[in-house]
Amino acid sequence: MANYDVIIIGSGPGGYVCAIRCAQLGLKTACVEGRETLGGTCLNVGCIPSKALLHASHMLHEAEHNFAKMGLKGKSPSVDWKGMLAYKDDVIGQNTKGIEFLFKKNKVDWIKGWASIPAAGQVQVGDELHSAKNIIVASGSEPSSLPGVEVDEKIVVTSTGALDLGKVPKKMVVIGAGVIGLELGSVYNRLGTEVTVIEYLDAVTPGMDAEVQKTFQRLLKKQGMNFVMGAAVQKTEATKTKAKVTYKLRKDDSEHVIDADVVLLATGRQPFTDGLGLDKLGVDMSPRGQITVGDDWQTNVKGLYAIGDVIDGPMLAHKAEDEGMAVAERVAGKHGHVNYGVIPGVIYTHPEVATVGQTEQQLKEAGHAYKVGKFSFMGNGRAKANFAGDGFVKLLADKETDRILGCHIIGPGAGDLIHEICVAMEFGASAEDVALTCHAHPTYSEAVREAALACGDGAIHS
Ligand code: NAI
Repeated sequence: MANYDVIIIGSGPGGYVCAIRCAQLGLKTACVEGRETLGGTCLNVGCIPSKALLHASHMLHEAEHNFAKMGLKGKSPSVDWKGMLAYKDDVIGQNTKGIEFLFKKNKVDWIKGWASIPAAGQVQVGDELHSAKNIIVASGSEPSSLPGVEVDEKIVVTSTGALDLGKVPKKMVVIGAGVIGLELGSVYNRLGTEVTVIEYLDAVTPGMDAEVQKTFQRLLKKQGMNFVMGAAVQKTEATKTKAKVTYKLRKDDSEHVIDADVVLLATGRQPFTDGLGLDKLGVDMSPRGQITVGDDWQTNVKGLYAIGDVIDGPMLAHKAEDEGMAVAERVAGKHGHVNYGVIPGVIYTHPEVATVGQTEQQLKEAGHAYKVGKFSFMGNGRAKANFAGDGFVKLLADKETDRILGCHIIGPGAGDLIHEICVAMEFGASAEDVALTCHAHPTYSEAVREAALACGDGAIHS
């Protein structure tokens, strides 16, 4: 007799959401988590703490750069780093405790410890052996390593160490101009650190719309961040207080050395499946270490499922959450589904960057006939009033049918604005549908409508 209907391994956004939904659907549910607190990487050392530091450092930036322009006089605040970290830790605490509360409310058992799967239908945690009709692996990801770069989480850090530095460094080198590198690089840049980002490719944020990439890098440069593009980091050498980073420029193979107080390694993440015993179980894995699953998120072992960062697809908390809800429904005999074509991606810098659907480059490559509607935030009254005119909304629609194919926004509130287009895409809407929808004035959302108008007879304010 199984003592649980479902055991979920991992309590990150994929795992905890899945556990709550399983319990809501009447399944006897447990979630195994080895950390001291629930919430996984996202809540403890990822999305949530980084957003707290982004918010605090943005407030400082506003005080230093925009308050006087609005007739707000007085001394700019100074940084109490310990106080800022305490605020961040408080935010983490509130969120992780919130999940503990939700587990209790929904009668999800938290099994504390690290899990392994000795056989199909069994989960070992310490000395205890549990059985479950269904096991869902949601064990997340960990930072990828880079040959020649040894992480000590003090001088050479991953995102985890970067959220808990002893002091604000004078000089920081960021390896990788991806989401983590630019978000955390922004935090320290605003706090007064001299930040240099070294990126292998010629553009920041690989895979994003090329116009957004260009504007994004230009705006970050304007804010004071330095970029070395087309450069492969070879090694780091760290002492107790400093580090040297050696990189080679791809264009001429020349070698260069740059020094820093802190080096942030942000060259991607990899699935975390250590200690689960998946190899012994014979679970199919991809060459990249991802668990292979079918359309129902089931592995080749019956009753064993996987979701989130351990499987294919973007490593995003909300993608994992959606999979968590969908797999819960499947296990409960319902028809859970995820539309992978409409998963937004957001970078929480200032301005924010948000994207959904296909990029112009992807459409070109696919030979898909499309049209572009673009609108600058300079033409948006609300953005102008808030010193937030940098950036644009770019909407892509099918040339014949007008159906929305993608949207790429860089500008104020982009991470919230994108959802209007996500909903529109879920309903198969056309650009005209958005253009004919009344949008309140004055809001940033009007820029989305203007981009939709630009797909038709033209925007009004450009
Ligand atoms: P990433 O994959 O976004 O970017 C890594 C960058 O490092 C790439 O641009 C790559 O070209 C560069 N790179 C690789 N090797 C290099 C080398 N030797 N020298 C110089 N550059 C090199 O990875 P990142 O930023 O570490 O993020 C990991 C994952 O976490 C991503 O999947 C991301 O989506 C997710 N994440 C999402 C957030 C969000 O949604 N706001 C926030 C933080 C992370």
